[in-house]
Amino acid sequence: MTDLSRTFGKQHVDAESRTRLIRSVFSRVAPRYDLMNDLMSMGIHRYWKRVMCRAAEPSAPGDILDLAGGTGDVARALAGQQRRITVCDPSLEMMQTGRARGHTPVNWLAGSAEDLPLEDASMDLVTIAFGIRNVTRIEQALGEIHRVLRPGGRLLCLEFSRPAAWLRPFYNAYSRLVIPRLGALVSGNRDAYHYLIDSIRVFPDQQQLATLFEQAGFEQVSYRNLSFGIACLHSGTRPGAHADA
Ligand SMILES: C[S@@+](CC[C@H](N)C(=O)[O-])C[C@H]1O[C@@H](n2cnc3c(N)ncnc32)[C@H](O)[C@@H]1O
Repeated sequence: MTDLSRTFGKQHVDAESRTRLIRSVFSRVAPRYDLMNDLMSMGIHRYWKRVMCRAAEPSAPGDILDLAGGTGDVARALAGQQRRITVCDPSLEMMQTGRARGHTPVNWLAGSAEDLPLEDASMDLVTIAFGIRNVTRIEQALGEIHRVLRPGGRLLCLEFSRPAAWLRPFYNAYSRLVIPRLGALVSGNRDAYHYLIDSIRVFPDQQQLATLFEQAGFEQVSYRNLSFGIACLHSGTRPGAHADA
């Protein structure tokens, strides 16, 4: 598997530089992030996020962490009675953009997935949408998520993945030719969107990510391809009986 701690797109960098570069990507794209998401995915990211939120439904109301929550898209969709939602993200700019979109009944918390500023066993559900790819030390982040989940708590992780073979040539052409141009046009950040497509290319595929979940101690690990594998929803459970069971 590619060692993500040393890659920033196609560049080879040390772990600290990668983390710094990723922070700067999101601080630059934050004001136009939501618009770019809609344009790049032709709105399909909303459907993928709805699938993730529906998968969260059977969970009891309780404490939910939306990790790498950015502008709070997922948190807004999950918000409901008796749910206490915390968005955690290292980018203040992304969270400020989200807060400016209006009142959202969530707590906004600055922090990295690799070192969560949260108590052990304090969450019933952790969601992370298009975030794990940006984390430099994935194994460490999965360990942290496992730590903050209560026994029986679930992790739902939505991420770009490896599309079906027949789709790959079209998908690759779209990623290479359209996305950076769109990024340059809409957000003035062609480089940031080069990072996006390169980071997808080197990210573990469906099965490799499932294996990382298992190695971090999750049980009932499964995944579901979305849009022929362009995106994938992984889930896993921290072993043990949930207090509400
Ligand atoms: C592509 S955005 C996804 C935002 C949101 N979840 C969504 O689906 O719209 C990726 C987010 O990951 C955050 N991020 C980057 N490195 C991170 C880390 N080490 N821990 C947690 N979040 C991180 C970025 O700041 C950014 O807000």
